[in-house]
Amino acid sequence: MKGILLAGGAGSRLYPLSLVASKQLQPVYDKPMVYYPLTTLIEGGVREICLISTPHDLPRFRQLFGDGSQWGISFDYREQAKPEGIAQAFRIAASFIGKDPVALILGDNIFSGGDTFNRAFAEFQGGATIFGYRVHDPERYGVVEFDQAGRALSIEEKPKQPRSNYAVPGLYLYDNDVVAIARDLKPSPRGELEITDVNVEYLRRGTLRVQKLPRGFAWLDAGTSTSLHEASAYVQTIEKRQGIKVGCPEEAAFNHGFISLDGLRQLVGRLPGCEYRSYLESLL
Ligand code: G1P
Repeated sequence: MKGILLAGGAGSRLYPLSLVASKQLQPVYDKPMVYYPLTTLIEGGVREICLISTPHDLPRFRQLFGDGSQWGISFDYREQAKPEGIAQAFRIAASFIGKDPVALILGDNIFSGGDTFNRAFAEFQGGATIFGYRVHDPERYGVVEFDQAGRALSIEEKPKQPRSNYAVPGLYLYDNDVVAIARDLKPSPRGELEITDVNVEYLRRGTLRVQKLPRGFAWLDAGTSTSLHEASAYVQTIEKRQGIKVGCPEEAAFNHGFISLDGLRQLVGRLPGCEYRSYLESLL
């Protein structure tokens, strides 16, 4: 499965931090925000990743990740010239996706805990797999409604009157049909190609799977100064308590055999003395 990491947008809700760096490059405790969704993809076994960002920010991501070979993965960088919706990513990345299935993750979504995602990646066979996560403010998100048997009945984007408390987080697994579905989408009233419309199409075809994320699983929002701070505090608390890092691509790549023990040793040798290096040394 291929992966798309979408890191576009102006990040205006983080002003004045957004003057210094794009939202997905802001620190969430001890690493840039984008490390977290990247690690989620690597943990899912994805090695070929297309990173999409604005023409202004793309060079910064290229600088940060290079070609990805240090972590045994590869990056393809593409521009989203205008923010015309999440589903635009499939048009931009169509030639990258080719005939493969693809996982899309949003560069500002931070996940932690459990193995629901890893199992979903491993078990994916076709159609679409998305997730439902209970929140107190579903009207801010795509909202999925379930029937008694737990099957998805409807999905709506930012409904004024949500039919459930289940928001759809920013990780989506699709078969190759997504390329044609995205190609044929029409912009919504807010002028965007909506990811929700892609999911509604899979629902209409009867090939959408929606998995509820369990209690205790964390899906963090880091789009405002307050939620960015809270996400940092959460990550720090978990890391300190457990002594393991959240969102560490080196560790995920090593666990998946994308890099060897020797590769990890060499990589660590190139890092400056810091807590992050000490952590990776402890893995060795
Ligand atoms: C987007 C999607 C929404 C989804 C959310 C997850 O919202 O449109 O369906 O629930 O990401 O983060 P946006 O970031 O555009 O507000």
